[in-house]
Amino acid sequence: MRFGLLAALGVAAAMTGQELPEGPGKAETEKLCKGCHEMARSISKKQDRDGWMATMTKMSGFGMRATDAETAIVVEYLARNWAAEDLAKINLNTASAIQLESGLNLKRSQAAALIAFRKEHGKITSLDELTKVPQLDVKKIAEKKDRIVF
Ligand code: HEC
Repeated sequence: MRFGLLAALGVAAAMTGQELPEGPGKAETEKLCKGCHEMARSISKKQDRDGWMATMTKMSGFGMRATDAETAIVVEYLARNWAAEDLAKINLNTASAIQLESGLNLKRSQAAALIAFRKEHGKITSLDELTKVPQLDVKKIAEKKDRIVF
């Protein structure tokens, strides 16, 4: 948890300063992705390699010029640092207490209450069912509904 938070703060700090993470492809990414818009926009997505490849193709359509070698290394760099997995879905029926706490900003007691409810109630199929869980703020959870699966 604590490590995750520090890492997130580190990334946030890195972004406001527009300092990209070190690694192969950094220089090429800076060269290619700063030309037409801010770097912040270039890295505004989290997606897998195919997704980043599609973004590259789209940018080429806007006139970005890149060699095949540059394209390959930049896609690797982007997919490594802004990966789709960072936004992993949270399955309310199988997530661990830690995943519920960190993913949904629940207190430890709330995560425990949800897990106890899950055991008793059986499979959760909608957020509405969570209104029956004592001490849970369903509205707050609903804000993350894009990340929640059942
Ligand atoms: C030749 C100009 C040009 C270059 C170079 C360029 N872009 Fe873009 N990019 C654009 C334009 C124009 C838009 C706005 C299009 C829109 O808003 O849909 C855009 C929008 C974006 C967006 C947000 C919209 C979307 O399609 O997801 C992302 C992400 C993005 N660029 C990533 C990159 C990355 C990564 C690079 C470097 C590999 C890059 N761009 C280099 C022209 C460029």
